[in-house]
Amino acid sequence: MDNLQDLINNRRSIYKFTDQSIDDEILNQAFLAASNAPCHKHTHPWKFYVLGSQTRSKLIPTVTRLAKIKSEKMQSKNFEADAKRAISKITNPPLLIAVTSKRSPNDDFREKEDYAASVCALHNLVLSLWENGIGSQWSTGSITRDESTYDCLSIDSKQEEIIGFIKAGYPESIRKVNKKPVKEIVEYLD
Ligand SMILES: Cc1cc2nc3c(=O)[nH]c(=O)nc-3n(C[C@H](O)[C@H](O)[C@H](O)COP(=O)(O)O)c2cc1C
Repeated sequence: MDNLQDLINNRRSIYKFTDQSIDDEILNQAFLAASNAPCHKHTHPWKFYVLGSQTRSKLIPTVTRLAKIKSEKMQSKNFEADAKRAISKITNPPLLIAVTSKRSPNDDFREKEDYAASVCALHNLVLSLWENGIGSQWSTGSITRDESTYDCLSIDSKQEEIIGFIKAGYPESIRKVNKKPVKEIVEYLD
């Protein structure tokens, strides 16, 4: 894509990826874009953990436990299939990144501003990947919020909050999404 406006407007969340891996050069470019996000007071509150196959394997017991809870809640009759699908969501994406933002337990406003900055960094990363033909999906599924995920990733949940997992890869398909018309989201005040 050769135009920033098109790049932003045509980005879509991608849920199915081909097996093609992502070059380190493209990944490093995306992390550079992330690192250039705005942040108030230069706190640089974001961090990106790229999950390799061993770390993903460590997550499987947690994914299975959470899938069981969800299956029971939904009164699903096929827990095996549900668990298999949940595990594949962690093992299949060519790239899986846990994105964290710094916590400030004694300063709610700082934590809110830092979260906002981390979202900017995350989206810079997503847009940079998109420019290189790589699609992403931001996920805040239960696995991203479970304490045992922090343990598997050796992240101190008192210091950092996992704000999501980014799953990324070359798109198998791109969905169409209807967005609110601009006239419904803008008001010009006298
Ligand atoms: C904060 C945040 C959390 C999200 N979490 C999930 C998720 O857990 N599962 C999911 O399928 N999509 C998730 N998404 C993706 C949204 O569903 C997606 O952005 C939305 O459908 C609009 O589509 P688009 O990104 O293609 O414009 C999340 C997006 C955001 C911004």
